Amino acid sequence: MQQEIIKIFDTTLRDGEQSPGASMNTEEKIQIAVQLERLGVDIIEAGFAAASPGDFDAISKIAQRVTHSTVCSLARAIDSDVKAAGEAIRQAKLKRVHTFIATSPIHMEHKLKMTPDEVIKRAVRAVQYARTFADDVEFSCEDAGRSDIVFLKEITDAVIEAGAGTINLPDTVGFRLPFEIGRMVKEMSDYTKDRAIISVHNHNDLGLGVANSLESIINGARQVECTINGLGERAGNAALEEIVMALKIRSDIFGAFKTNINTKEIYPSSRLIATITGIEPQPNKAIVGKNAFAHESGIHQDGMLKNKSTYEIIRPEDIGLDLEDTLVLGKHSGRAAFKDKLSKLGFTLGGEELESAFERFKELADKKKEIYDDDIRALITSQMTNIKKAYELVAMQLMDSTGGVPSAAVTIRHDDHEITDAGIGDGTIDAVFKTIDRITGYQGRLLDYRVKSVSQGKDALANVTVKVTFNDNEPAMIGHGLSLDTMLASARAYIGALNSYLSMEGMLKFRHTDSTETI
Ligand code: KIV
Ligand code: ZN
Repeated sequence: MQQEIIKIFDTTLRDGEQSPGASMNTEEKIQIAVQLERLGVDIIEAGFAAASPGDFDAISKIAQRVTHSTVCSLARAIDSDVKAAGEAIRQAKLKRVHTFIATSPIHMEHKLKMTPDEVIKRAVRAVQYARTFADDVEFSCEDAGRSDIVFLKEITDAVIEAGAGTINLPDTVGFRLPFEIGRMVKEMSDYTKDRAIISVHNHNDLGLGVANSLESIINGARQVECTINGLGERAGNAALEEIVMALKIRSDIFGAFKTNINTKEIYPSSRLIATITGIEPQPNKAIVGKNAFAHESGIHQDGMLKNKSTYEIIRPEDIGLDLEDTLVLGKHSGRAAFKDKLSKLGFTLGGEELESAFERFKELADKKKEIYDDDIRALITSQMTNIKKAYELVAMQLMDSTGGVPSAAVTIRHDDHEITDAGIGDGTIDAVFKTIDRITGYQGRLLDYRVKSVSQGKDALANVTVKVTFNDNEPAMIGHGLSLDTMLASARAYIGALNSYLSMEGMLKFRHTDSTETI
């Protein structure tokens, strides 16, 4: 049977990044884009170029790096946005500009303060201008879920005529039920026929993002926009892994369709995003949650031992989760075994990168008896985030706080010399962070602090994620620290956030203020 392709448009780096606390630095975004390409997504929405020079820079670096997936930037229907998007993706082998304007009465009246005719004019102009940068242009009718279908058809005709090849119908506020979305998609795809591809972009406010996406496919959508782990604004976007696995597992219903996703890369992608953003999927999250393949009750375990198909509809190995092979290496493992493990986990390191990863692995293996896949992932992810390190932790000593004043002595390397200082705080972490502030001269304000054990055992690695602001007028920075010692991991995370801030400082100063429109 001839199967139709459902294009997977991943917006983890754009809508996903709009998730509170999920901001990523350029290096992290590049790593994610490379993994998304390995996963096989058709289109990577790499960011919103006009949002800041930092976003622009990340998109253009991704455009240079990615070769198989289309690289896309979002742009409001404003000349300056479209120009920024077009220039950011300029070097991509396959490129797309994605422009949008709101089409619902509520948005046009209260947010845009524009008439429907003015909205159509702006949309047409944006699409025509976008076509001067890329042949592939997508137009989104923001809040299509609450828009009038007659107006949707009118604006669709106009933007197709102007050169848009994909028409996206977002349920921006996650309001619609599956049968309503299905009806809208059917009417719009019957109307546009082969003049454009109909795409959907479903938010999860009522927990229906994935159901709405599947219903859309049945009704004619040939592109779905989604994110890894369902990351995204508010309650998030439809989760890529759930859509893709539903299509695969329920081939009895969806047999006419296929995606280009290599499902074995789903789990590695999920882990990478969780490690970088510090946002773990809930344990019972479908497909990638910690408990998604755990069988707790005796009856279920008995059934599983007799025949896995009694309680298992998805094989863990189909998403790249190797339950039998999670205990990996120890201190006697050699370079070849390490390299083999890396390639199984989807990392391709060579030369110096491999050497330094191997050294770090050996250091860890000296202290930690058993090293698991998640340890290796965390180790490599933290190494690959190689933003320029203005400050580096050299040593740290904590004074016992039992009954006394918590205090810390810290040594940091900066500009080839080492600076040591000591300080006190309201608690040990406060003492460490205040001492780092004294040394660096930057005053960080801690907005969030999370610690997670990477794998298992009393000697598990601690992965600390901090969210810190160094200037209340600028976005907060995320820092990660990895160590067998939680306090050391905390200090590394805090310094990591400062290094990210310094690497973006110049860029953050500049922000576009030419429009009151927001996304
Ligand atoms: O939710 C939404 O409407 C969006 C658009 C900008 C595509 O994210
Ligand atoms: Zn969205």
